[in-house]
Amino acid sequence: MSEEIFDLVVIGGGPGGHAAAAEAARHGARVGIVEKELWGGTCTHRGCVPTKALLACSGHYAALKKLSRLGVATGTAAYDFAAICRHRDQTVRIAALGVEKSLQEARVVQKTGEGKITSPGEVLCTAPNGGTESLRARHIAIAWGSEPAAIFPPSARVLTSDTFLRLAALPKSMVIIGGSVIGVEFATFLAELGIPVRIVEILPALLPYEEPEAGAFLQKEMTRLGVEVHTATKVAALREDGEGVCVEAVKDGQHYEFRAEYALLCTGRRPRLDEETLAGTGIRHDRRGIAVTAGQETNIPGIYAVGDVTGGIMLAHRAMQQGRALASRLFGDGAVVCREDAVPAVTYTHPPIARIGLTEGQAREKGGDVEIVRNDYGANIMARAELAGQGFAKFIFQANQLVGATIAGAGAPDLIAALTLAVTAGVDRRTLQSWILPHPTLSEILRL
Ligand code: NAI
Repeated sequence: MSEEIFDLVVIGGGPGGHAAAAEAARHGARVGIVEKELWGGTCTHRGCVPTKALLACSGHYAALKKLSRLGVATGTAAYDFAAICRHRDQTVRIAALGVEKSLQEARVVQKTGEGKITSPGEVLCTAPNGGTESLRARHIAIAWGSEPAAIFPPSARVLTSDTFLRLAALPKSMVIIGGSVIGVEFATFLAELGIPVRIVEILPALLPYEEPEAGAFLQKEMTRLGVEVHTATKVAALREDGEGVCVEAVKDGQHYEFRAEYALLCTGRRPRLDEETLAGTGIRHDRRGIAVTAGQETNIPGIYAVGDVTGGIMLAHRAMQQGRALASRLFGDGAVVCREDAVPAVTYTHPPIARIGLTEGQAREKGGDVEIVRNDYGANIMARAELAGQGFAKFIFQANQLVGATIAGAGAPDLIAALTLAVTAGVDRRTLQSWILPHPTLSEILRL
């Protein structure tokens, strides 16, 4: 056993673990971090980063088609899937190197291997070559992340988001099961490259956890893109043959069969739970994740958890903020917190959808007066000049406070940032009405 006692040992090098480790080290703590696979975790290697690189390629290719309306001739547009994959892999490499570099700069001790909590205050790290090392720690943070929750067994023809990203060739056709965030992002990528895509979603709308108008808006846009959308349709079974896969679905008692070369399961993610460690240490958890307090502490003193492993909103930026908040609480003044009601959610379709805070339905459920303001992209001159297409911004006020907003349209992922600050800071309507927005910009969609 090493003589050194770390102030903090983090298990998991994804966004949550990385943020906790780097921020704790910046506070002067002696920090170790253990990662068994790849630095940067799911977000960097199998989630946010590769998918956004792919969507940038398909989005630019699709955008070429409208350039003639702007008087720009481009000749015949074409794409090269191998080059698209190189761009994706290069983006991932840069992101992963960035994670490692920031840990090194913060003087965090990195260990490659599988970390197991053997007792509060001790983590056993097993390296890929089988060598073991015991790390002693005053505090331990679990950041194990999440994995796809496949409702059918994955196979060579039935993909998850992880295996989709390893395909060497573009699919000839695809049935996507689940029309939430992951499903619609992959559908956008494939459809923009001209691949026939169907989405089958059991609930009545796409993006069922978002503002209903956003789901309806997206369904129209996806249909325009050539995606066949089947909502209120349950996938009951999958059959594979040499040619591909047959998806058996049921809608209103009617049976349908959808054939494609591949099926892609986009039916949610679940926390990655190491039952051996959890049982051995008595950490309270259920299948939705490890139970933590607002300060990220588990029921075992000195053991914390951050990110997707805690269940709830499985987003990288929420995991990072939980990590930063934990470091602030343990080694700083505790002023940095992670407010669950102020976590933005972004869907990177074309056009994208972004939300902060409550939907109108959630606000009405809470009771009290709800006021709605809605602006349309049609009235925004920059959207017109740029041929940015349709969209809307919807603001939800309660007692004159901004409690939620959804933006559906070009620039939404960046435009939501300002409203995230407004919700976090409890900005009232009058203050927002005094906000001067530059003209002409897309940001004028936020003018009240
Ligand atoms: P999800 O949990 O958001 O949605 C799963 C969807 O599958 C639901 O719409 C559900 O109704 C549908 N479904 C379930 N069983 C079905 C069946 N038998 N037939 C048809 N449809 C069925 O899952 P998703 O989209 O896989 O995302 C997982 C997590 O990853 C989410 O927490 C999401 O926030 C996160 N994520 C976030 C991204 C972003 O921020 N841009 C991108 C990708 C993922």
